[in-house]
Amino acid sequence: MNSFAARTALRVVLLAFLGCRIAAAAGADEPPRQRLCMDFGWRFQNGDPADAGQALVFPEVKDLAKVRKADIAAEAKLALSRIDAAVAHLGENLPIVQPGFDDSSWRQVDLPHDWAVELPFDPKANYQHGFKAIDPAKGTNIGWYRRTFDLPASDQGKTLWLEFDGVYRNSLVWLNGHCLGRHPSGYTSFMYDISKAARFGGSNILVVRADATRTEGWFYEGAGIYRHVWLVKTNPVHVAHWGTFVTTKVDGADAIVNVQTALENDSTKDDSCEVDSAILDADGKQVAWQHVSAVSVKAGQSTTVLPSLDLHNANLWSLESPYLYKLVTTVKENGSPVDVVETPFGIRTIRFDADQGFFLNGKHVEIYGTCNHQDHAGVGSALPDRLQSFRVEKLKEMGCNAYRTSHNPPTPELLDACDRLGMLVMDETRRMGTDPEALGQLESMMMRDRNHPCVIIWSLGNEESRDNMQADNDIGAAMCKTMQDVAHKLDPSRVCTVAMNGSWGLGFSKVIDVQGFNYVTRGGTRGGLSADAFHEKFPAKPCIGTEDASTVCTRGEYADDRAKGYVSAYDKRGTATAEKWWNFYATRPWLPGAFVWTGFDYRGEPTPYKWPCINSHFGILDTCGFPKDSFYYYKAWWTHDTVLHIFPHWNWAGKEGQDIEVWAYSNCDEVELFLNGTSLGRQKMEPRQHLSWTVKYAPGTLSAKGYRDGKEVAQDQVQTTGDPSSIALKADRTQIHADRQDVSVITVSALDAEGRAVPTAQNEITFTVSGPGKIIGVGNGDPSSHEPDKASKRRLFNGLAQVILQSNSEPGRIEVTATADGLQPATLTIQTQTSPTLAETP
Ligand code: GAL
Repeated sequence: MNSFAARTALRVVLLAFLGCRIAAAAGADEPPRQRLCMDFGWRFQNGDPADAGQALVFPEVKDLAKVRKADIAAEAKLALSRIDAAVAHLGENLPIVQPGFDDSSWRQVDLPHDWAVELPFDPKANYQHGFKAIDPAKGTNIGWYRRTFDLPASDQGKTLWLEFDGVYRNSLVWLNGHCLGRHPSGYTSFMYDISKAARFGGSNILVVRADATRTEGWFYEGAGIYRHVWLVKTNPVHVAHWGTFVTTKVDGADAIVNVQTALENDSTKDDSCEVDSAILDADGKQVAWQHVSAVSVKAGQSTTVLPSLDLHNANLWSLESPYLYKLVTTVKENGSPVDVVETPFGIRTIRFDADQGFFLNGKHVEIYGTCNHQDHAGVGSALPDRLQSFRVEKLKEMGCNAYRTSHNPPTPELLDACDRLGMLVMDETRRMGTDPEALGQLESMMMRDRNHPCVIIWSLGNEESRDNMQADNDIGAAMCKTMQDVAHKLDPSRVCTVAMNGSWGLGFSKVIDVQGFNYVTRGGTRGGLSADAFHEKFPAKPCIGTEDASTVCTRGEYADDRAKGYVSAYDKRGTATAEKWWNFYATRPWLPGAFVWTGFDYRGEPTPYKWPCINSHFGILDTCGFPKDSFYYYKAWWTHDTVLHIFPHWNWAGKEGQDIEVWAYSNCDEVELFLNGTSLGRQKMEPRQHLSWTVKYAPGTLSAKGYRDGKEVAQDQVQTTGDPSSIALKADRTQIHADRQDVSVITVSALDAEGRAVPTAQNEITFTVSGPGKIIGVGNGDPSSHEPDKASKRRLFNGLAQVILQSNSEPGRIEVTATADGLQPATLTIQTQTSPTLAETP
């Protein structure tokens, strides 16, 4: 094993999943392990101090996004020449990392924090990353964070480590002036043991430098400490970091739960301990227990115990009922607990079949997937945990049952949401390759995520076609095999795929467990086979659609407008319309389904127009999660709900007598359209298609009726509205936790005098907040809006805007008032309630 991989493997040995809301009172009764949130009370500043010079610069290969043959050799050379930041005491001479440094003039920030989203848009900035002004000349490429925390004298002798869920990117961390290390990846989680560098009985200063100069992808990536930071305190003999691995075997109504528990002994004495493994059901009731006695862990070494527990009448994890158990691992010395670790897990079987697709718990499941990047309106890549669930809930509403974390390991709380809500996941690593960094990324993703029942498959890479890496040479195949071997070793319970755009049947195809197709309707390119020809030639190879569609539509726009950067919401352009790609998959039983590019719009990659457009249009939902019309296409064919949706809106003043194209998405047998009560014809809906009429515009009501077996089962209508006259506010939740993290997501719209939502309203709305909360971001899904995300006002875009409101620690009433010129204001009350104590560092 190379040195990076070895270091990673040493660190990545356990799952310390105590969750955020553990009780953590300091003192005699404190639990053997604490996982303390370090999100609050940071100081932040952009730019390096003048005395940093070039000392902190890190040499990297030319292209971090794709593997190129030239970079393989370059990476090997660089790996030899790079210094280990901790061993070299990097930057320790700089006052900025030292305890005495005066940071009182720095801005106060809480995590998660993305400084890129706070920057203005700049037409000269990188379009792929959302035109954000990351500018070395202004220092906005570098961010420094400082935070103090106290440790009691009683912590001396304990094992302590810091966990960073993700920092974008190339971070350096110092504790009390000592360099702990460098972490190049902006997507993988990492930890530093601080048992030696920490000061006990006093204050400690943690300093982080993030360098967002380089990019790892071709989409918006954010900047800074955009995920949580934790301090873990335990005893020298403990379960290792990411050190539990649960696999399950279903046996009739029962299940066998096999556990690998990695133990470490950080002390200088050999130890003998006991390990209790208890399984709690969803109500917290113990349903299985096992004791392993006399486990010997030598000083400074590690060992693994392998408890196996029988569970009677197991509740399976499924999409309809995502049942979660919890493994509680207790390490005891002389009968007293010295470490306790909780590992949520689920029991389910998964199988990819070459002829019949995908099976969950032995039941055929069609994969209705979406690919997604990780940013959201208002907050960039720094999502509060609740927003992860909000987004998964939105996807589920349209029948989506699978999420590809394109193209990087996700925030851990996204996987928690998928576990809890029932959403399958294709978990994807960022960097393909066999260099130490690439293998380290794969290993750390897998060690962290392998207990999540939602994860059904690992993705080793995306479209690595540059320099023919996946084509008919052996280099691609060997690289893929090396990665897959690592994956199989770390997790024998899941298979791997790689998202290939063409070259099907060549390169990676020769070794990969499950063939991944990006864009089947293009017919396959780069010397490879078409998907059908591939299946014919390799009938025993399971396949999956890793990516498709790339349709481009702007919510509420019904004509292309190059100057504004908008694309018509009639799904006619893009790589493959929803109908085209979905018909391909739906009619081939050997294909388990696929992942649409994309569920949500994301910043960056503006397509097909660039500036003034700053974000992508590929989403079925916009950057706020407001559905586009195509949402109802998928809902019609991906759910059992009766769906009838007609569009466009019916506010076309000035177009009287002109033809308007009207579409219906529906899963009814027939749909009839009416204008002001007069039938415009009843049409038969073919499976997985849409219907259309050409209608001479006249204001009034355009309505539709849906029929099944000749009986009316659904209605929809759009009406010509009056001008906006009042504002409406609606929250996804009106009661939230008073914990400084929870959010209420508020939809803002404008109503006419008759109380109808005005779909064309563009009014600028100003928000004021009173009570224990604050606005952390605003958005409207307009892909060409250059308004700030961190603001107290926002224009409606085609009738809608979003406000993300966060609680503070005081329970009480938050009042949000929305005002606009000429409109009746609106007020909404959000109640915040005391929540379980959030354990944090003092
Ligand atoms: C794919 C690629 C995605 C995105 C998409 C846009 O080829 O995998 O990351 O760039 O194209 O259509």
